[in-house]
Amino acid sequence: MQHDNYVVDDMISAKAIAARVEAMALEINEYFADTNQLIVIGLLRGSFMFISDLVRELQLPVEVDFLETSSYGDSMESSREVRILKDLRGEIKNRDILVVEDIVDTGHTLNHVIQLLESRKPARMMVCALLDKPERREVDVQADLVGFEIEDKFVVGYGIDYAQRNRNLPYIGAVRFLDE
Ligand code: IMP
Ligand code: MG
Repeated sequence: MQHDNYVVDDMISAKAIAARVEAMALEINEYFADTNQLIVIGLLRGSFMFISDLVRELQLPVEVDFLETSSYGDSMESSREVRILKDLRGEIKNRDILVVEDIVDTGHTLNHVIQLLESRKPARMMVCALLDKPERREVDVQADLVGFEIEDKFVVGYGIDYAQRNRNLPYIGAVRFLDE
């Protein structure tokens, strides 16, 4: 796919994503098999496509809630300072929760979110991330369940954006600038 000054190189196909999401859902089904109701918490906006596919594979009673943190803006660099832009609608105290993130990069966002949610004393918490860039980590934090470990490239598609674009791609690709 061609843009003004960059192209998106194919990285993970829609088919590979679907297969991995299905496998991740199996693990979640198993882990929360005895739950009376799981709250699936999507981190906006990047996780919207992942969470919608994931919940369809869950064989559990679920509810869905969303949390929005401050983003990169239009830059490719993490701001490292995380703010909550939109909080959850519901209470999570003594509840089972599954946190759904698109991608863990420096780790600042996930670290902040985990600490915030843990302070609210959920019964059990599992964190899943579709993508993980371990090389980029600045804070020691890890998702319990990762879809794909990827190298240090800026990616788009399947909900993930570059300056708000390319979220609608059904696959994941890497941004490559043309005049580099
Ligand atoms: P972190 O706080 O640096 O771990 O960044 C996490 C957030 O940055 C993710 O939830 C994404 O929204 C965004 N992000 C990190 N890497 C990328 C990328 O390669 N493409 C698009 N967004 C990214
Ligand atoms: Mg995000």
